Amino acid sequence: MAELAHCVSFKLCRSTADWLMAKTQVRPVVGIVCGSGLGGLADMIKDSDVFEYSDIPNFPKSTVHGHAGCLVFGTLSGKPCVCMQGRFHLYEGYPVQKITLPMRVFKLMGVQTMIMTNAAGGLNPDFRVGDVMIIKDHINMPGFAGVNPLSGPNEDRFGVRFPCMSDAYDRELRRMALAVGADLGFSDFLKEGVYCVLGGPSFETIAECRLLNRLGADAVGMSTAHEVIVARHAGMRCFALSLISNKAVMDYDSEARANHEEVLETGRLRAVQLEKLVSTLVGRIEEQQRLLRNAPRPN
Ligand code: HPA
Repeated sequence: MAELAHCVSFKLCRSTADWLMAKTQVRPVVGIVCGSGLGGLADMIKDSDVFEYSDIPNFPKSTVHGHAGCLVFGTLSGKPCVCMQGRFHLYEGYPVQKITLPMRVFKLMGVQTMIMTNAAGGLNPDFRVGDVMIIKDHINMPGFAGVNPLSGPNEDRFGVRFPCMSDAYDRELRRMALAVGADLGFSDFLKEGVYCVLGGPSFETIAECRLLNRLGADAVGMSTAHEVIVARHAGMRCFALSLISNKAVMDYDSEARANHEEVLETGRLRAVQLEKLVSTLVGRIEEQQRLLRNAPRPN
């Protein structure tokens, strides 16, 4: 365990952050993680500096089809950002501590707000393929078996030993995203719900989908929650979206079969709107911070 903690120690994350800061002038305040088929967000970033994961010291390598494997620095809606075009998953075989290393590196570079996107299977019977779910909470199923990115010695310079997770998904950002969605005319397909993470890579059985739905999950996927745990530990605000790329199969008579191609195809169909939602939201985060800076100080 101590060996694993070493791979995300303050010193090691600091050395990766320093390496990146020596190579880019951008000092990001927003971090974005693009899910399967949603990497187009990175292409909206202006004046970009791009680094392949394989060139970044201490970074794992991305191995999944549909995940590009680049870190893109630049500006989105006028704001300095860093965007992961492709993320790391438990099923790639990396320890959970290692797949969340970028969150700590971003924190050391000055990121205050993290925005994550993913593709997920819809468990809530009211959800349709193509819906976008604002994550209001998660169920970290691997955590029930001790697979938590914060296990091992605590790195106090990032955060406390026992971080609170009841406010993991920032309420204000969720409220703003609903408002942005309404302004853009997206209310019909914008939902809110609970995301359950599993280890993958096999998709869920019918019995597992039924179980997760009964447990209160609205969508199921293989990412995001670990990143949110590490980002919250380090004091960053988190906002996350799931694109419902397929309906989880709950019925033994159904002929439907979950598959990765459908996940990527739904991403392509909804990608432009999802990108618009995130980029508009990023612009408003800045406005909100400016308002706060200019607000009268409480006595
Ligand atoms: N299950 C798990 N992960 C997923 C799914 C799913 O149905 N769809 C996209 N990612």
